[in-house]
Amino acid sequence: MSDFHTFLERLLAQFPSDVLIISEHIDDPFVPAAMALELDRLERPPMLIFESLCDSKMPFVTNVFASRDRLSWAIGTTREKFHDAFNTYAHHLMPPVVTSNGPVADEVWTGEALDVRRLPAIQHFNEDAGRYFTAAIVVAHDPDTGVRNLSYHRLQIKGPTRLGASLHSRGHLWDYFLRAEAQGRDLECAVVLGAHPEIMLAAAGRMGIDQDEYERAGAMMGEPVELQKCQTVDIEVPARAEIVLEGRLLGNTYEDEGPFGEYTGYATGRSTRNVLELSAITRRRDSMYVDIVSGNSGDHLVLGRAAKEAYVWGGLKALFPHLSAINYPSSGTHYHCYISLRKTAEGQVNHLLSLLFGLDNYIKTAVVVDDDINVFDESQVLWALATRMQPDQDLLVIPNFMCNKLDPSSRDGVGSKLGIDATTPAGWNFERATVPESSVRLARKLLQDGK
Ligand SMILES: Cc1cc2nc3c(=O)[nH]c(=O)nc-3n(C[C@H](O)[C@H](O)[C@H](O)COP(=O)(O)O)c2cc1C
Repeated sequence: MSDFHTFLERLLAQFPSDVLIISEHIDDPFVPAAMALELDRLERPPMLIFESLCDSKMPFVTNVFASRDRLSWAIGTTREKFHDAFNTYAHHLMPPVVTSNGPVADEVWTGEALDVRRLPAIQHFNEDAGRYFTAAIVVAHDPDTGVRNLSYHRLQIKGPTRLGASLHSRGHLWDYFLRAEAQGRDLECAVVLGAHPEIMLAAAGRMGIDQDEYERAGAMMGEPVELQKCQTVDIEVPARAEIVLEGRLLGNTYEDEGPFGEYTGYATGRSTRNVLELSAITRRRDSMYVDIVSGNSGDHLVLGRAAKEAYVWGGLKALFPHLSAINYPSSGTHYHCYISLRKTAEGQVNHLLSLLFGLDNYIKTAVVVDDDINVFDESQVLWALATRMQPDQDLLVIPNFMCNKLDPSSRDGVGSKLGIDATTPAGWNFERATVPESSVRLARKLLQDGK
């Protein structure tokens, strides 16, 4: 059966240099984030394991998702084929199975022992309000239909049984919570801290409100996810998860939460200000503590972006078969998107842009280019902007759009959209200046020999 431990064993056996193990005692909680941000400059940043961080007895694991290649390998594909592979799994869902003897409840902390501060969550940035769970997958059931949902939410430690939560992406969990609150109820939930990366990736992906992310995780793993009932709430969690927090999102209870260093690169107290009250904590005897580096780190951005790009790619491709590539560049956190396509009609770009903004309301600035432009090379995209775009004709601006609350320039979650058509217009008759291929080859050889 697969879990985070089997994933790590497999990774170490196949790509030992993909894991950096820090064995010496590190007494500085900011080092994991500082190290991950330094490593982001590498092509394939390693995952980090701190064997002895501050006063924790558990291995502290982070930066798991910072490498797109590692993430692709984890789901049995390559970086180039990631989007189509991830989307295909959504069409071959595999329902989970329920067991009762998984290791997730080897240890149960309730009563006197229930104190979430015992877990090795860290403060990542100077500006953070305190220690945060950043790889927290909240599992809950739709209060009307019972369908299950998995999604990530930052959780601030406020006391032994109290967490501050933000549902600012205003997705399915937020919708569940509002409906439960309107019915005068709290929303029961469980928080999974550390599971097989395919479960962690599925939780970052978008599915219909009537679909269960465990089913896509099962499809990726090639085996049904084994679930186990929680101790104090009516929720199922992966039987082989590392640590689980059980509790309720309290209705009609709001408290300040944050500031917290977010993916935008800014620390923010913008939050839905929810409160999660805990009733139990369970863990494996051999649990590792899994963290995601917050802020605009590769760890956070790659995980969120890979799943989102795939969703958007699938939605656009269904209508625009001549789409070539999509890139959410790091420079734009989650707010920029570059798309290349072989345009087959005038007006097509605005049609595409409207759908793009509808599919992903985080996107604020989108640039569409022809398919001779490599969207993964930002200087090529800017060259297309410089030479193929006229502002009086090629801009699409949409005001008053629900966007992400964390965009500091938005009016607390309401902003506008800028679509830029940097494709060549009809009647274009400029040719790129080129030199013969044979001369390029010879020039490269001469430069190589001259080294
Ligand atoms: C690492 C990570 C952290 C995230 N943190 C938050 C958060 O604190 N609050 C939030 O509302 N969304 C957060 N998100 C986004 C949601 O988890 C994501 O949009 C999810 O797909 C929403 O799913 P849902 O619509 O099924 O609820 C985070 C995503 C990732 C990948």
